[in-house]
Amino acid sequence: MIDLNKIYNENCIDTMDRITSESIDMVLTSPPYDNLRDYNGYDLPLERIIKGLYKVLKKGGVVIWVVGDKTENGSETGTSFSQALKFKELGFNVHDTMIYYKNNPMPTTGKRYHQHFEYMFAFSKGAPKTFNPITEPTKYNGLANMKNRGKEGTLNYKKVERTKEKKVGNVFFYSVGGGISTKDKIAYQHPAIFPEKLAYDQIKTWSNKGDLIYDPFMGSGTTAKIAHMLNRKWIGSEISKKYTEIANKRLEEYIKTNLFSI
Ligand SMILES: C[S@@+](CC[C@H](N)C(=O)[O-])C[C@H]1O[C@@H](n2cnc3c(N)ncnc32)[C@H](O)[C@@H]1O
Repeated sequence: MIDLNKIYNENCIDTMDRITSESIDMVLTSPPYDNLRDYNGYDLPLERIIKGLYKVLKKGGVVIWVVGDKTENGSETGTSFSQALKFKELGFNVHDTMIYYKNNPMPTTGKRYHQHFEYMFAFSKGAPKTFNPITEPTKYNGLANMKNRGKEGTLNYKKVERTKEKKVGNVFFYSVGGGISTKDKIAYQHPAIFPEKLAYDQIKTWSNKGDLIYDPFMGSGTTAKIAHMLNRKWIGSEISKKYTEIANKRLEEYIKTNLFSI
């Protein structure tokens, strides 16, 4: 038994032990990685976490795992890829390796280009059950003459209807930083938030209204806020008391509904 629309101030391993098997529609999260920051209680037993996610996720559910690599002794750690391969080894499909492109990253030094992106891995439990793609207008639409060559090499013309919209590519562009990632000042008391727009795009793509979203590393509460605003139910875990308090304070003005139970 677990309350919905609530952040559990504990290790996500413990929350997942109590979440009913196959009850979560989608996971959106960004794990702590490579000891890059001191999160007041860092703990990442990766294999147990992946097994827990596999247990709680419905068939066709998707995990969006936002992660990057630290540069150590002049080279990248490779954490992102080793985590992706671990998900694969433990039964997930690596459904799509999407890119979270930062329009305005922190400048970096050394003999490499500025680090502009993180990965947004989409791991799925079987084929994804929900996909509501973001689309953009096509340049040319309406009726068009399509040509193809017949057997004897003759050209045939056919009128076809071109669609007005097409799905976008898997590189998503975001501006980040103070006042941009979110307007909630309190969220910046956490050192590593992802932009609200990223949460919005991912939750809309891989879930429907009324679905249940889980974030095992809730941080400042971005996933909860956007899930709530998109009429999804949600559960979060956050190991740090300080960040749980920040997230709850941030969510106060948005979350006015009662708790549900499953
Ligand atoms: C990268 S941050 C997440 C930030 C979040 N996406 C946001 O927008 O605010 C990762 C968080 O995971 C928390 N954490 C680390 N290990 C954890 C664990 N085992 N269970 C739950 N939370 C954990 C850290 O305290 C940190 O706040």
